[in-house]
This record gives sequence, C-alpha cells and structure tokens, in this order.
Amino acid sequence: MSWKDIRGWTDGHLEAIYAQAVADAEQGDILVEIGVAYGRSLALLARLALDARKRVRIIGVDPWADCDVPYGGEEHRELHTKAGSYYEACVLEMMTHAPEEYANVTLLRMGSVTAAQKFERSPGMRPAFVFIDGDHSYESVLSDVVAWAPLTKTGGVIAGHDCTPSYPGVERAVREYFNGDFEHLGSCWKRRMRP
Ligand SMILES: C[S@@+](CC[C@H](N)C(=O)[O-])C[C@H]1O[C@@H](n2cnc3c(N)ncnc32)[C@H](O)[C@@H]1O
Repeated sequence: MSWKDIRGWTDGHLEAIYAQAVADAEQGDILVEIGVAYGRSLALLARLALDARKRVRIIGVDPWADCDVPYGGEEHRELHTKAGSYYEACVLEMMTHAPEEYANVTLLRMGSVTAAQKFERSPGMRPAFVFIDGDHSYESVLSDVVAWAPLTKTGGVIAGHDCTPSYPGVERAVREYFNGDFEHLGSCWKRRMRP
C-alpha cells in the first residue's frame, strides 16, 4: 500500500521538487498543489511531510469536473463508476492506497483562481510552496501563475509540471510572467520568490 499505487502522472523531476519543498518547509507552512487528479502526487507530498515529521498544511485544489470520458481516458471508467464521480474516484484512490496521507491533506473542490481568491481574503494563508499541475494550456497556466505567485511567501517556491514540448503553453506562460527568470528542471519549472 503506497502512494505509488495511485494512478496518476508523477516523475523523478516532480519528486525531487516535492522532496526539496518538504526539506525547506518550516512548521506550520502551507503547501498547495493545483491539479490533484487521482491524488498520486498529493499523496507523495503528504508522505514526504509525514516521514520528515513536518507539521505542514497540504492543500490540493482541483474542480474534479465530470466529463463524458473520464480524466486520463477510458481505462479509468471502472473506477469512476465504482466511486460515483471523478472527485469520489480521487477520494477512493487515496483512501485505498494512502489512507494516512489522505488524512493529512485538505481537498478544495474548485478551480485554481477561485481558490487563490479565497487565500487572498485570508492574510494568514500565504503558501510556502505552490505546484501548478492543472490545465496545461497557455491561458490557464498564465492565470494560475498570475493568481498564485503574489500569494507565495517571500523565500518560498512556485513551480509546475509538464514544462515540455508536448505542452508549449506551459513554458510560454511561465517565461512571459517571470521574464525568463525561472529554472527548468527536466519536466518541471521552478521559481523561488525573492523580495
Ligand atoms: C495532469 S492532472 C494532475 C496530475 C496529478 N498531479 C497526479 O499526481 O497525477 C491535471 C488535473 O488538473 C485539474 N484541473 C484542470 N483545470 C484546473 C484548474 N483550473 N484548477 C485546478 N485544477 C484544474 C484536472 O481536473 C486534472 O485533475
């Protein structure tokens, strides 16, 4: 039983960024993942924090919109039918394969920008780490970065997945927002927020 049994899309570059985020985290920090899908990378983040005995708040944001074809393709239909919906499929995957990790995360069922607006209204809610892995279109990544970069704590990190030729909009949006001042780490991008 492990987060690795949860269906999803992780790789070594994402895992390294999550490990560094947990290593950098101070007690009480807020770590946010945009785009949870079935919970694989969110459970990894929770496992790393549990193993490091870091008392952090881990928040996963995803609208879990139900579509004609299940997210990721037909191979997930059986799970969706068993669970009842995309959101419940995520809960079922996490509870089945990573129950301790599931107990240590908060799921926000809403879009990234709506969630950022809620954080903005609460001055205490300033994440030390934001990882963007939602809709990979240029417009969506740009609105995610516009919404979350100003909320990220000084010294914290905003990063994201799939900064690859398969998703040209990801790099275009990040390059544009940060004027090219970001790191490219394999499949991921990363930017530390400076004063
Ligand atoms: C590539 S998957 C995430 C993969 C996941 N991190 C994993 O470990 O497998 C993208 C997810 O982003 C979600 N998504 C799409 N638009 C979004 C938005 N505006 N805000 C947050 N999540 C969004 C989709 O519902 C989908 O579940």
